[in-house]
Amino acid sequence: MIPVITIDGPSGAGKGTICQLLAKKLGYSLLDSGALYRLTALAGQLKGADLADPDVMGKIAENLAVEFNVTDTGVAILLEGKDVSQAIRQEQVGMDASQVAAYPQVRSGLLACQRQFAKLPGLVADGRDMGTTVFPDAPVKIFLTASAEERAKRRVLQLEEKGETADMATILADIELRDKRDRERKESPLVPAADALELDSTSLSIEGVLEEVLNVVQQ
Ligand code: CDP
Repeated sequence: MIPVITIDGPSGAGKGTICQLLAKKLGYSLLDSGALYRLTALAGQLKGADLADPDVMGKIAENLAVEFNVTDTGVAILLEGKDVSQAIRQEQVGMDASQVAAYPQVRSGLLACQRQFAKLPGLVADGRDMGTTVFPDAPVKIFLTASAEERAKRRVLQLEEKGETADMATILADIELRDKRDRERKESPLVPAADALELDSTSLSIEGVLEEVLNVVQQ
Protein backbone atom coordinates (compact mmCIF):
# COMPACT_ATOMS: atom_id res chain seq x y z
CA MET A 1 0.00 0.00 0.00
CA ILE A 2 1.23 3.51 -0.81
CA PRO A 3 1.79 5.46 2.42
CA VAL A 4 -0.39 8.57 2.46
CA ILE A 5 -0.22 11.28 5.13
CA THR A 6 -3.33 13.46 5.15
CA ILE A 7 -3.23 16.96 6.61
CA ASP A 8 -6.64 18.61 6.77
CA GLY A 9 -7.83 21.80 8.38
CA PRO A 10 -9.33 25.25 7.81
CA SER A 11 -7.99 28.15 5.71
CA GLY A 12 -4.68 29.55 6.84
CA ALA A 13 -3.85 26.90 9.48
CA GLY A 14 -0.39 26.52 7.92
CA LYS A 15 -1.09 23.26 6.09
CA GLY A 16 0.55 24.43 2.85
CA THR A 17 3.90 25.22 4.45
CA ILE A 18 3.91 22.13 6.67
CA CYS A 19 2.95 19.81 3.80
CA GLN A 20 5.71 21.20 1.56
CA LEU A 21 8.35 20.80 4.27
CA LEU A 22 7.12 17.33 5.20
CA ALA A 23 7.01 16.08 1.58
CA LYS A 24 10.54 17.38 1.01
CA LYS A 25 11.85 15.82 4.20
CA LEU A 26 10.32 12.40 3.42
CA GLY A 27 10.91 12.53 -0.35
CA TYR A 28 7.14 12.10 -0.92
CA SER A 29 4.90 13.64 -3.59
CA LEU A 30 2.61 16.48 -2.62
CA LEU A 31 -1.07 17.00 -3.37
CA ASP A 32 -2.28 20.57 -2.91
CA SER A 33 -5.98 19.80 -3.30
CA GLY A 34 -6.95 23.43 -2.67
CA ALA A 35 -5.07 24.30 -5.88
CA LEU A 36 -7.40 21.95 -7.80
CA TYR A 37 -10.47 23.80 -6.46
CA ARG A 38 -8.78 27.10 -7.33
CA LEU A 39 -7.96 25.76 -10.83
CA THR A 40 -11.60 24.75 -11.31
CA ALA A 41 -12.76 28.25 -10.36
CA LEU A 42 -10.14 29.88 -12.61
CA ALA A 43 -10.95 27.56 -15.54
CA GLY A 44 -14.61 28.51 -15.12
CA GLN A 45 -13.76 32.23 -15.16
CA LEU A 46 -11.53 31.87 -18.24
CA LYS A 47 -14.23 29.94 -20.13
CA GLY A 48 -16.85 32.53 -19.16
CA ALA A 49 -18.82 29.75 -17.40
CA ASP A 50 -21.56 30.42 -14.87
CA LEU A 51 -19.86 29.73 -11.53
CA ALA A 52 -23.29 29.38 -9.93
CA ASP A 53 -24.12 26.35 -12.10
CA PRO A 54 -23.02 23.14 -10.27
CA ASP A 55 -23.39 20.91 -13.37
CA VAL A 56 -21.29 23.15 -15.60
CA MET A 57 -18.63 23.55 -12.89
CA GLY A 58 -18.67 19.79 -12.22
CA LYS A 59 -17.86 19.09 -15.88
CA ILE A 60 -15.04 21.64 -15.78
CA ALA A 61 -13.61 19.93 -12.65
CA GLU A 62 -13.82 16.48 -14.23
CA ASN A 63 -12.02 17.59 -17.40
CA LEU A 64 -9.41 19.84 -15.82
CA ALA A 65 -6.20 19.76 -17.92
CA VAL A 66 -3.61 20.40 -15.22
CA GLU A 67 0.05 19.72 -14.72
CA PHE A 68 2.16 20.26 -11.61
CA ASN A 69 5.79 20.70 -12.66
CA VAL A 70 8.38 20.61 -9.89
CA THR A 71 11.09 23.23 -10.59
CA ASP A 72 14.14 24.43 -8.64
CA THR A 73 12.15 27.32 -7.21
CA GLY A 74 8.91 25.50 -6.40
CA VAL A 75 6.00 24.05 -8.33
CA ALA A 76 4.73 25.49 -11.61
CA ILE A 77 1.00 24.86 -12.04
CA LEU A 78 -0.19 24.68 -15.64
CA LEU A 79 -3.78 24.91 -16.83
CA GLU A 80 -4.18 23.85 -20.47
CA GLY A 81 -0.43 24.37 -20.86
CA LYS A 82 -0.42 27.91 -19.43
CA ASP A 83 1.40 28.77 -16.18
CA VAL A 84 -1.28 29.92 -13.73
CA SER A 85 0.76 29.50 -10.51
CA GLN A 86 0.28 33.19 -9.63
CA ALA A 87 -3.21 33.62 -11.05
CA ILE A 88 -4.77 30.91 -8.84
CA ARG A 89 -3.49 32.62 -5.67
CA GLN A 90 -5.60 35.75 -6.20
CA GLU A 91 -8.06 36.41 -3.36
CA GLN A 92 -11.02 36.40 -5.76
CA VAL A 93 -10.05 32.99 -7.14
CA GLY A 94 -9.88 31.73 -3.52
CA MET A 95 -13.39 33.03 -2.81
CA ASP A 96 -14.71 31.48 -6.05
CA ALA A 97 -12.97 28.20 -5.20
CA SER A 98 -14.71 28.18 -1.84
CA GLN A 99 -18.05 28.68 -3.65
CA VAL A 100 -17.60 25.90 -6.24
CA ALA A 101 -16.11 23.51 -3.64
CA ALA A 102 -19.59 23.30 -2.11
CA TYR A 103 -20.99 21.57 -5.23
CA PRO A 104 -21.07 17.74 -4.99
CA GLN A 105 -20.52 17.64 -8.79
CA VAL A 106 -17.23 19.51 -8.39
CA ARG A 107 -16.08 17.38 -5.45
CA SER A 108 -16.77 14.10 -7.23
CA GLY A 109 -15.33 15.51 -10.48
CA LEU A 110 -11.99 16.05 -8.74
CA LEU A 111 -11.80 12.70 -6.92
CA ALA A 112 -10.01 10.64 -9.58
CA CYS A 113 -7.51 13.41 -10.28
CA GLN A 114 -6.66 13.69 -6.56
CA ARG A 115 -6.18 9.93 -6.13
CA GLN A 116 -3.74 9.82 -9.05
CA PHE A 117 -1.26 11.75 -6.89
CA ALA A 118 -0.71 8.70 -4.65
CA LYS A 119 2.60 7.26 -5.88
CA LEU A 120 5.53 5.51 -4.25
CA PRO A 121 7.41 6.20 -2.05
CA GLY A 122 4.45 8.13 -0.58
CA LEU A 123 2.16 11.15 -0.61
CA VAL A 124 1.47 14.13 1.61
CA ALA A 125 -2.10 15.28 0.91
CA ASP A 126 -3.15 18.80 1.91
CA GLY A 127 -6.85 19.73 2.08
CA ARG A 128 -10.16 19.66 3.88
CA ASP A 129 -11.39 16.11 3.24
CA MET A 130 -8.21 14.15 2.52
CA GLY A 131 -8.59 11.91 5.58
CA THR A 132 -12.39 11.62 5.45
CA THR A 133 -13.19 11.20 1.74
CA VAL A 134 -10.26 11.13 -0.66
CA PHE A 135 -7.86 8.84 1.27
CA PRO A 136 -10.00 7.28 4.04
CA ASP A 137 -7.48 4.41 4.48
CA ALA A 138 -4.46 6.67 4.99
CA PRO A 139 -2.34 5.38 7.89
CA VAL A 140 -1.47 8.87 9.21
CA LYS A 141 -4.09 11.62 9.50
CA ILE A 142 -3.57 15.04 11.03
CA PHE A 143 -6.15 17.79 11.56
CA LEU A 144 -4.34 21.12 11.83
CA THR A 145 -6.17 24.10 13.32
CA ALA A 146 -5.45 27.57 14.73
CA SER A 147 -7.76 30.32 15.97
CA ALA A 148 -9.43 32.43 13.25
CA GLU A 149 -7.60 35.56 14.51
CA GLU A 150 -4.20 33.85 14.33
CA ARG A 151 -4.96 32.52 10.84
CA ALA A 152 -6.02 36.01 9.67
CA LYS A 153 -2.83 37.49 11.16
CA ARG A 154 -0.70 34.94 9.27
CA ARG A 155 -2.50 35.67 5.99
CA VAL A 156 -2.02 39.43 6.40
CA LEU A 157 1.72 38.85 6.94
CA GLN A 158 1.89 36.59 3.86
CA LEU A 159 0.17 39.21 1.68
CA GLU A 160 2.41 41.98 3.04
CA GLU A 161 5.48 39.90 2.24
CA LYS A 162 4.25 39.75 -1.36
CA GLY A 163 3.98 43.57 -1.32
CA GLU A 164 0.16 43.52 -1.30
CA THR A 165 -1.94 45.63 1.03
CA ALA A 166 -4.10 43.67 3.42
CA ASP A 167 -6.79 44.79 5.78
CA MET A 168 -7.05 42.63 8.91
CA ALA A 169 -10.83 43.06 9.33
CA THR A 170 -11.52 42.08 5.69
CA ILE A 171 -9.20 39.06 5.85
CA LEU A 172 -10.75 37.88 9.13
CA ALA A 173 -14.25 38.21 7.65
CA ASP A 174 -13.13 36.19 4.55
CA ILE A 175 -11.65 33.48 6.75
CA GLU A 176 -14.83 33.28 8.83
CA LEU A 177 -16.94 33.04 5.66
CA ARG A 178 -14.72 30.27 4.23
CA ASP A 179 -14.83 28.41 7.57
CA LYS A 180 -18.62 28.58 7.56
CA ARG A 181 -18.82 27.28 3.98
CA ASP A 182 -16.28 24.53 4.71
CA ARG A 183 -18.13 23.39 7.83
CA GLU A 184 -21.66 23.69 6.53
CA ARG A 185 -21.46 22.15 3.05
CA LYS A 186 -23.41 18.90 2.78
CA GLU A 187 -20.79 17.03 0.74
CA SER A 188 -17.54 16.31 2.64
CA PRO A 189 -17.83 19.08 5.26
CA LEU A 190 -14.70 20.09 7.11
CA VAL A 191 -14.54 17.73 10.10
CA PRO A 192 -11.60 15.76 11.48
CA ALA A 193 -11.57 12.09 10.44
CA ALA A 194 -12.46 9.84 13.39
CA ASP A 195 -8.86 8.54 13.41
CA ALA A 196 -7.13 11.92 12.89
CA LEU A 197 -4.83 13.52 15.41
CA GLU A 198 -5.86 17.12 16.10
CA LEU A 199 -3.08 19.66 16.36
CA ASP A 200 -3.68 23.30 17.36
CA SER A 201 -0.94 25.49 15.89
CA THR A 202 -2.13 28.82 17.38
CA SER A 203 0.91 29.20 19.60
CA LEU A 204 3.34 26.98 17.69
CA SER A 205 6.03 28.02 15.20
CA ILE A 206 6.33 26.27 11.82
CA GLU A 207 9.28 24.27 13.21
CA GLY A 208 7.20 23.35 16.28
CA VAL A 209 4.34 22.04 14.13
CA LEU A 210 6.72 20.13 11.82
CA GLU A 211 8.36 18.48 14.82
CA GLU A 212 4.98 17.37 16.22
CA VAL A 213 3.89 16.02 12.81
CA LEU A 214 7.18 14.15 12.32
CA ASN A 215 6.73 12.57 15.77
CA VAL A 216 3.35 11.21 14.67
CA VAL A 217 4.69 10.01 11.29
CA GLN A 218 7.64 8.22 12.89
CA GLN A 219 5.53 6.43 15.54
O1 CDP B 1 -6.57 29.85 0.85
P1 CDP B 1 -7.23 28.69 1.46
O2 CDP B 1 -6.40 27.94 2.47
O3 CDP B 1 -8.61 28.99 1.94
O4 CDP B 1 -7.52 27.77 0.28
P2 CDP B 1 -7.00 26.51 -0.44
O5 CDP B 1 -6.49 25.45 0.48
O6 CDP B 1 -6.13 26.94 -1.55
O7 CDP B 1 -8.40 25.97 -1.04
C1 CDP B 1 -9.25 26.81 -1.80
C2 CDP B 1 -10.72 26.49 -1.46
O8 CDP B 1 -11.00 25.15 -1.86
C3 CDP B 1 -11.01 26.58 0.03
O9 CDP B 1 -11.79 27.71 0.30
C4 CDP B 1 -11.80 25.31 0.36
O10 CDP B 1 -13.14 25.63 0.63
C5 CDP B 1 -11.77 24.47 -0.88
N1 CDP B 1 -11.18 23.15 -0.64
C6 CDP B 1 -12.03 22.09 -0.41
O11 CDP B 1 -13.24 22.28 -0.34
N2 CDP B 1 -11.54 20.84 -0.25
C7 CDP B 1 -10.23 20.60 -0.31
N3 CDP B 1 -9.78 19.36 -0.18
C8 CDP B 1 -9.33 21.67 -0.52
C9 CDP B 1 -9.84 22.95 -0.68
